[in-house]
Amino acid sequence: AAETDLAGRRVLVTAGGTREDIDPVRFLGNRSSGRQGYALAATAAARGAKVVLASANVELPDPAGVEVVRVGSAREMREAVLAEREGVDAVVMAAAVADFRPATSAEGKIKKGEDQPATIALTENPDILAELTHNRVNGHQVIVGFAAETDHVLEHGRAKLARKGCDLLVVNQVGEGRAFGSQDNQAVALGGDGSAVEIPYGPKEDLADRVWDLVGDRLAVV
Ligand code: C5P
Repeated sequence: AAETDLAGRRVLVTAGGTREDIDPVRFLGNRSSGRQGYALAATAAARGAKVVLASANVELPDPAGVEVVRVGSAREMREAVLAEREGVDAVVMAAAVADFRPATSAEGKIKKGEDQPATIALTENPDILAELTHNRVNGHQVIVGFAAETDHVLEHGRAKLARKGCDLLVVNQVGEGRAFGSQDNQAVALGGDGSAVEIPYGPKEDLADRVWDLVGDRLAVV
């Protein structure tokens, strides 16, 4: 791809992992480092796009030339995404958004013994990606999801693509030291058009560039 092939384009990228409060000092979280999302934001900016990065609990320096919006929970992520989604050509949802949160968050620190809960009741979070695709702002916005699967990667990926209604789903295999927190990644990009593009194992920046190639192809069609 030409170096500035995304010039004039505006994109929204999400990165990191949400944290869902249990009490003021504890949360339910996940192992996402934010590296893949930050690589997506950095490469899009390097290719000329105007980039907004909605970042959840990431300890990485802001990518050059990118506007960073910080969020904590899934509901905050949703607010940020809905505020930015109009007027962007593409949304790439690389963040690991919690599917569930504690049904209640205690106002004070939960103490051992006296009010120790036997279980943490959970309630479902909004599915931001599905909300974007089921209620599209226009016909040309390209919406990309990410999925981490531990087994039956293609089969689960296809089913998820259909369920989420996105244009592309980038599926990677996790577990056994793969993906989370590492510098490298490997994936298959499944298209809503039935396509499957293998992205070989390599730096997260290279995977990001391949994703923008696929997004660029779809933007060029309209
Ligand atoms: O269902 P699963 O969490 O595996 O789907 C992953 C994709 O859906 C990611 O792109 C993630 O950002 C997005 N997602 C979302 N809202 C949720 C859960 C996941 O947008 N509540």
